Amino acid sequence: MKSFAFASALAAISSSLVTATPTPTDPEQPHKRATLPTVTASGNAFWTGSTRFYVRGIDYQPGGSSAMADPLADSTICQRDIAEFKKLGVNTIRVYITDNSANHDTCMNALADAGIYVIIDANNPLYSINRFEPAASYNTAYLQSVFATIDEFIKYPNTMAFFSGNEVINDNVTSTLSARYVKATTRDMRQYIGNRGYRKVPVGYSAADVSQNRIQLASYMNCGTDDERSDFFAFNDYSWCNTNFVQSGWDQKVKSFTGYGIPIFLSEYGCITNGRDFGEVQALMSSEMTGVYSGGLMYEYALEANNFGIVKIPSPQASTVQEEAGFTKFASAMSAYPAPTGNGGFTSTTNSAACPTKDANWLVDSTLLPAIPDGAKAFMTAGAGTGPGLKGDGSQNAGGTSTGDASPGSGTSTAAPSSSKNAAGVTKMGPIEKAPLIITGLVFVLTLTGTMLL
Ligand SMILES: *[C@@H]1O[C@H](CO)[C@@H](O)[C@H](O)[C@H]1NC(C)=O
Repeated sequence: MKSFAFASALAAISSSLVTATPTPTDPEQPHKRATLPTVTASGNAFWTGSTRFYVRGIDYQPGGSSAMADPLADSTICQRDIAEFKKLGVNTIRVYITDNSANHDTCMNALADAGIYVIIDANNPLYSINRFEPAASYNTAYLQSVFATIDEFIKYPNTMAFFSGNEVINDNVTSTLSARYVKATTRDMRQYIGNRGYRKVPVGYSAADVSQNRIQLASYMNCGTDDERSDFFAFNDYSWCNTNFVQSGWDQKVKSFTGYGIPIFLSEYGCITNGRDFGEVQALMSSEMTGVYSGGLMYEYALEANNFGIVKIPSPQASTVQEEAGFTKFASAMSAYPAPTGNGGFTSTTNSAACPTKDANWLVDSTLLPAIPDGAKAFMTAGAGTGPGLKGDGSQNAGGTSTGDASPGSGTSTAAPSSSKNAAGVTKMGPIEKAPLIITGLVFVLTLTGTMLL
């Protein structure tokens, strides 16, 4: 029944979407997901309606990245693990690899029933930007897969956000040259969402834990014209290591990002050096951080050789998992430190950052982004069509690359503004606290561009 309702609603906005039909082996369960509100980005925070939304999540990648498996396409796997997510009390999972040719109704609906949102990485090892061959890998086949992933997941109300890239830029300075292509991908994804008339699911990048380029990268992803900027920024952080707010340096990470202008959260945290009591949860939910950060995702759920996981999965299809010591500790931290009430001291205005200049740690010397590849322009009006899934040829050397730079503003959505504007939910907010603009490392530029509707 609900699938039919979804299909009808989608048909109204896009005639080319492949509608999802439950397979006979996956009977639809009764569910109440219609009550789960969608998440929007406004100011430097996320919202469900007029309530501040914090990512209180876990990274979900059973089998690791080498498995190239989509846990949300297998109802046995996801339902087993959703039961564990409920015990943990998480409200969000991040899924690194999904199959854009598969049906996700059962798992996405079961997650919604559990009150759990999903952040989807829009790329995967086969269809991604190559950090050392960014120009070749930013091509039509790549964007077709990215857009097909948007098509597949944007129909679910509990899709919270999309990552436009994951740790593409790393600690090798040459990789900073790939930032232009990641940023172009973000631009293209946001334009695709706008042009297709979709709900404005936030799009941003998930950065590696690399101190020498973190600030420049963050500034870069939030500089330039509106069409070029992200809806949020996320980074991975492994500096806590059972210390505290000051010793970990998180106090400095609050200072240096104060006034950044868009939501920030940790896409991975959970250092395992010195044991692990998940003091990060207390810090993330405290007023020391909530003015600047919107929570984070603990890395990770499934125990792999790297020892970060908190459940052991005996075999991929096992019906039960074994909870490790970290499971109880993480569940305790989640329960002891709930999301704060009130607005957390957010900043209601959005602002852009100044684009970083080239230096020894940052090799990008232009603020211009590559133009969308000619072959991908058609997707903006016709849709991306059927996704290649995880068994395709991959895109990194597929040809069909970008020719030349885009003029700033050219990625603006051409569709009429949808009624579900990002900020619609916060118009009834009470008095707004403005965080003091402490500038230490980032240079902020207040923009008068109307991205904030308060
Ligand atoms: C950075 O990557 C480039 C390209 O793969 C490689 O040639 C270079 O040796 C790397 N530098 C370091 C310090 O690893």
